[in-house]
Amino acid sequence: MVLLEGAELGETRTRVRLEPFAHQVGGHTSMLHYDETTLCKPLFSQEQVFYESLPADMKPFTPQYRGLISVYVEKDSSGHISLVACPQNDNESPAQESPMATKRTQQRAKTPCAAEHKPAREGLLLDRTCNDRSSVCGTGTGKGKRDASFHMKDPNGNESATPERSSHNPWGLQCHRAQLMRMSSDSKDNEPYRFLLLENVASPFQLPCILDLKMGTRQHGEDASEEKKRRHMKKCEQSTSSSLGLRLGGMQVYQATTGHFLCRNKYDGRTLTAEGFRQALYQYLHDGHQLKRELLQPVLQRLSALRAVIERQGSYRFYSSSLLLIYEGKKHSLGRHPVSAPPRVDVRMIDFAHTSYRGATPNHTAYEGPDRGYIFGVENLINMLQEIKDGD
Ligand SMILES: Nc1ncnc2c1ncn2[C@@H]1O[C@H](COP(=O)(O)OP(=O)(O)OP(=O)(O)O)[C@@H](O)[C@H]1O
Ligand SMILES: [Mg+2]
Repeated sequence: MVLLEGAELGETRTRVRLEPFAHQVGGHTSMLHYDETTLCKPLFSQEQVFYESLPADMKPFTPQYRGLISVYVEKDSSGHISLVACPQNDNESPAQESPMATKRTQQRAKTPCAAEHKPAREGLLLDRTCNDRSSVCGTGTGKGKRDASFHMKDPNGNESATPERSSHNPWGLQCHRAQLMRMSSDSKDNEPYRFLLLENVASPFQLPCILDLKMGTRQHGEDASEEKKRRHMKKCEQSTSSSLGLRLGGMQVYQATTGHFLCRNKYDGRTLTAEGFRQALYQYLHDGHQLKRELLQPVLQRLSALRAVIERQGSYRFYSSSLLLIYEGKKHSLGRHPVSAPPRVDVRMIDFAHTSYRGATPNHTAYEGPDRGYIFGVENLINMLQEIKDGD
């Protein structure tokens, strides 16, 4: 976290410069690193309302919701752009603010606090003369400095001929560049944007191996336009969403052989056949040397527990949400008295901007029973992992 002082008003108020999150494997918005265990995500009021009314038995399977925050775009005379978060005063309870029903994809806060702002000393360089690859340069803090770099795979799963070496996942950086462009060209009167604060579920891992799976057989939300609905339905029909209730939305897996993360993105995921998906799943569990069999039992256990929880969520439809699978890519060094501990794995649901449930969208009739498309996906995932486990 980069702490800045809001000293212009004579008060000391913590401001936090936001960095792109190094381990963003999917999505389209930019996830920003707020502190060691917290990320910021652009606010969609439906997602806020979802987290605020989250059923207790889903909490172990979702990131912890940590409130809202205002984010300012700061640009200095040489074109450096920074995003700076301005935490709430103690007496403003972020969770109690009413969601703003606006058509903007990213929402603005009601109360700007621009007077507190000093020009950023460092930050992200948004250089319109750079090509797409290099238009964001430098992240300024040690958070981006990793002991592993990231390599892209081409759509056939082969390593790219000109791998982009970066301390950040290349897909996440691409999202970040696009979001900075949108926010800086859209930034009027230094009005802040509103962001959600969410637990960073990758933070306990040193070299997080992450799989983002778009879940279910339907992706469009209740509020989708006819055009958007058609687009989403076509993507589902033409991908493993319809056949498996699962689609690869992004992936990074640490390769012990080369010391870098191998990455695949959602465009790659959309082209996979069911067999291609199975191979990607296998690849996710492989460190370049060997299949990490020890992960299978703990992941399967967690998925069975998730299935039981989803079965109990009548009326919920998790359209366009993802399931994140995470495990530790770093080999633990064996001490003098090695103990065989179960490997650290996690399975979490994320992205509830288009989740529907009774009472969430007043103009829509509520569905009965649990989300069968989601459960179909979880069961196929369990079956595929079980087959890998039983294989030679
Ligand atoms: N709580 C979290 N902890 C760690 N990583 C996260 C978390 N939430 C999101 N991510 C990362 O950010 C990516 C995008 O997240 P998310 O799906 O919420 O964004 P989105 O832009 O709304 O997605 P979409 O394009 O599907 O609408 C995920 O693939 C994951 O890598
Ligand atoms: Mg998503």
